[in-house]
Amino acid sequence: MRIPDIAPGGKVLAFGHYQPSNVVTNDDLAKTMDTNDEWIQSRVGIKERRVAAHGESLEDMATMAGGKALAASGLSPDDVDLVIVATCTLESQIPNASAVVAHRLGITSPGAFDVNAACAGFCYALGTADSAVRTGSARNVLVIGAEKLSQWLDWTDRSTAVIFADGAGAAVVGPSDTPGIGPVVWGSSGDKSDAISIKDRTDFLRQEGQTVFRWATTTLHPVALEACSRAGVDPSELAAFVPHQANLRIIEAIARKLGADQAVVARDIVNAGNTSAASIPLALSRMLERGEVRSGGLALILGFGAGLTYAGQVIEIP
Ligand code: UT7
Repeated sequence: MRIPDIAPGGKVLAFGHYQPSNVVTNDDLAKTMDTNDEWIQSRVGIKERRVAAHGESLEDMATMAGGKALAASGLSPDDVDLVIVATCTLESQIPNASAVVAHRLGITSPGAFDVNAACAGFCYALGTADSAVRTGSARNVLVIGAEKLSQWLDWTDRSTAVIFADGAGAAVVGPSDTPGIGPVVWGSSGDKSDAISIKDRTDFLRQEGQTVFRWATTTLHPVALEACSRAGVDPSELAAFVPHQANLRIIEAIARKLGADQAVVARDIVNAGNTSAASIPLALSRMLERGEVRSGGLALILGFGAGLTYAGQVIEIP
């Protein structure tokens, strides 16, 4: 057996994102359920979120984000031979989103599969994309995190409706002479699988908030440190920490334990809400757009959520 064209490393070449134009504020929600801006901001950190328009699909949002990342990478659709969509809110059981999105973007005959690791999905997909590039299974990979959580929410349930939102973020991964994506540290706590669920198509998203909160604030900082260690990076070298945008209190608790005081911490949840698998690429893409992080810096990304699943790795910012 001969394995051709093994790349020394993979790296993110570009990010892109898309958010629906429909902004929903906390005051908007307070008109239809027993909640208020003060509770939502102090307990979750969200000021406003985006919700897809009627008829705007998850595939639509994924296509927009993927197209922007592809354009920013300078590659053409022909250069991409693998498309992975991380999502847990696809309406259709089949077809998968990745084949549909690839076709819409003019990417001909790529490998195409979806990953469902909920809010950790983007980091799982990115780790898989990096391996595919480094082993020669793919030249360039389009990785998209996309969610339409609004279609799985009970809009009368204040414990979930104020938290979750819609959006998409994407990254193009290609070969590199030096590694730009560190080893992914991934794992799961299946004993807590009931803590976040959508049981079937007649059900809504349900969450035992406090169980997940305790798990996230006690279990995940060692994972963050392990991802740094496996990449040979000290937390003091990080330019950014971009965890899943679940809750501002969780983000800040993990950031404190990480001890990377110099790193810019993503707080995209304030204006984007919790967009599950989309939240990390969405946050990073928006931070790049606002000039909050610079190309060439190191970012630690850390996804966590239903399963319960988690995954994180250090990446070089494109
Ligand atoms: O993205 C996937 C991973 N998910 C997470 O990481 C989520 C982790 N969990 C959390 O972020 C938090 O647990 C929540 C934001 C979900 C909830 O915050 P909490 O501080 O744990 O609140 P709680 O569930 O303990 O509720 C406290 C109080 C309750 O009232 P009583 O029983 O003390 O009178 C709730 O009924 O707040 C009440 N409450 C609300 N009040 C106003 C719950 N939701 C709301 C609301 N507005 N939207």
